[in-house]
Amino acid sequence: MDAVEKTLNTMPEAAQRGFADALINWQKKHGRHHLPWQTQDPYCVWLSEIMLQQTQVVTVLDYYPRFIAAFPDVHTLAAAEQDQVLGLWAGLGYYSRARNLHKAAKQVVAEFDGIFPDTRRQLEQLCGVGRSTAAAISAFAFQRRETILDGNVKRVLCRVFARGGNPADKKFESSLWTLAESLLPPDPADMPAYTQGLMDLGATVCKRSKPLCEECPMEVFCQAKAQNRVHELPLKKAAVKVKTQPLYWLVLHDADNRILLQKRPQSGIWAGLYCVPCFDSLQALYDFAAELGLPPESLSEQAAFTHRLTHRLLEIMPFEAQCLSEKVSDRHWVGMQNLQQYGLPKPLHSYLNRTQKTLF
Ligand code: ADE
Repeated sequence: MDAVEKTLNTMPEAAQRGFADALINWQKKHGRHHLPWQTQDPYCVWLSEIMLQQTQVVTVLDYYPRFIAAFPDVHTLAAAEQDQVLGLWAGLGYYSRARNLHKAAKQVVAEFDGIFPDTRRQLEQLCGVGRSTAAAISAFAFQRRETILDGNVKRVLCRVFARGGNPADKKFESSLWTLAESLLPPDPADMPAYTQGLMDLGATVCKRSKPLCEECPMEVFCQAKAQNRVHELPLKKAAVKVKTQPLYWLVLHDADNRILLQKRPQSGIWAGLYCVPCFDSLQALYDFAAELGLPPESLSEQAAFTHRLTHRLLEIMPFEAQCLSEKVSDRHWVGMQNLQQYGLPKPLHSYLNRTQKTLF
């Protein structure tokens, strides 16, 4: 008997048997039913699932309708310019999601004749779609018996079944997939309510801090509750080491108070977005400015601020200057009133709104 089988065999039987029924009944009564992506259209489900990775429902409720209005189906998205896709994504962060979304739409059109595949395995072939996202799409849109396992679901399982493994350990992760699969309801027709129930329970009841155990449909079989370990489980991940990285911005204004933007390269931070000229060192910024006839004393240093990325803390030091637009061959001199059409990194959007006279 391997470790996984052993844990499954020693799992409290009642929880194992009662889990799906309790969750489905609870979801029908207390779960979320009016989210705009709760349809059986795989395009809508896929788009929402990508947006909901690392992003709260309230934020997605704001972005999702605009995205659907601009790209009502996979064909319009596949045919769009990358700048338009990134422009509508601007502010949601984790921009690789938007670049992958665009690539995946092209894949669906080119490789699947514009029809979304309906199995989890095939969905996993799409750019940006991992196992849990593929399972969510196949469960919601095609009623497939596939399990999701995102961070919220891991927390629910670690508590209900008192699993205290190391979250960074691949074997432990794999045992959670096995456990999650063993809990699926037998009837495929229950898959949408069951999957939504897992998401709703993790987001609204079995929360990381201040879980609402009295309202939980799993309270009767929750092993963490019985062992008084709700606040201990799941075990914490080791903190990620965050490196500080300086970044120098040159904010150039022309005589018409337009700002110079450059499209970022397709890899690295803010790939494909538009940003003011950006440098790793002050010397590199001075060299660029000198080529435009701007000596260091013509540059006005602004208050530095920080912006956190997943593994890095950017320390952004902006410099402002006036410049003749003819000096720059780049086409992207943009007036404040047109900035909202560009996909800008979040800290640049905030900086310009904070420091310039108009909001956009
Ligand atoms: N988080 C991830 N997917 C979700 C969904 N479909 N509804 C609500 N929250 C989610």
